[in-house]
Amino acid sequence: MRTAIVTGGASGIGLAICRELGRRGVHVVIADLDGAGAERAAKELGCSAAALDVTDAQAVRDLVTDVAAGKGQLDFMFNNAGIAVGGTADELTLDHWNRTIDVNLRGVVHGVHAAYPIMMRQGFGHIVNTASMAGLVPAPLMTPYTATKHAVVGLSLALRAEASGHGVRVSVVCPGFTDTPLLDHANPGLPQTATGRGARRSATRAQGRLYSADSLAGDIMRGLSRDRALIVAPASGRMAWRGVRLSPALAVRVAALAVRRLGGR
Ligand code: NAI
Repeated sequence: MRTAIVTGGASGIGLAICRELGRRGVHVVIADLDGAGAERAAKELGCSAAALDVTDAQAVRDLVTDVAAGKGQLDFMFNNAGIAVGGTADELTLDHWNRTIDVNLRGVVHGVHAAYPIMMRQGFGHIVNTASMAGLVPAPLMTPYTATKHAVVGLSLALRAEASGHGVRVSVVCPGFTDTPLLDHANPGLPQTATGRGARRSATRAQGRLYSADSLAGDIMRGLSRDRALIVAPASGRMAWRGVRLSPALAVRVAALAVRRLGGR
């Protein structure tokens, strides 16, 4: 039976991915820091759950190894867990930076490092990393977040090139603002900022309408079936990305206007 691990699968985008995978007959292991939430979701979807902190490399390795050995194969590794961190660069502490790097970048590195050798040995498998539009365009007032998501895009594309010779696929998902609980708990466990408190309002203002996690999960499934390198959604995100590629300097000027509009000094 095809098997997937989805980190951050108890909520939002990860949960929507789990639903889509379940519909396609894939056995899903929901791995989340919120162990109780993972159990609840697993009960609803009829799949498995594991409490997992993606910042713990050994715990990620143990889970990935156990699942692959127990099920006989690992078809998908979704490195999706992430946190939102926002604020002006001068007010963010090193804790904001380090926590963002630990969860959003190291968390993905741990998943890749554990799953890739197994998939190489199998000669198949698909690693799917959730980055963000902030991995493709400058997202001011979220500088650490932007840095980690750009890193996840770079990591994914470089690994994709390397992995193709071994039958392993790698895709990276870059969603625009999506209607999930993430926007209501920015800066988790960190000093709060005005940007963090207003994340949902700013996201709605910036994008017009928040995208739905279910629509995004549908886009992701289509992108994976076509083995897309980058899955960018919704359409407004693809337009913004095109704009950045046409003129990076203009994109920064547009981002600077947005900072002034949002009152980020
Ligand atoms: P969410 O907050 O609804 O879900 C994130 C899940 O990750 C939660 O269940 C949380 O418990 C889990 N998690 C957090 N830290 C963890 C850790 N250390 N170990 C394991 N699990 C952990 O958020 P959402 O929106 O579903 O986010 C999923 C991914 O999508 C994240 O990587 C986020 O950066 C990215 N994203 C979200 C966007 C949005 O507007 N919601 C836009 C672009 C990207």
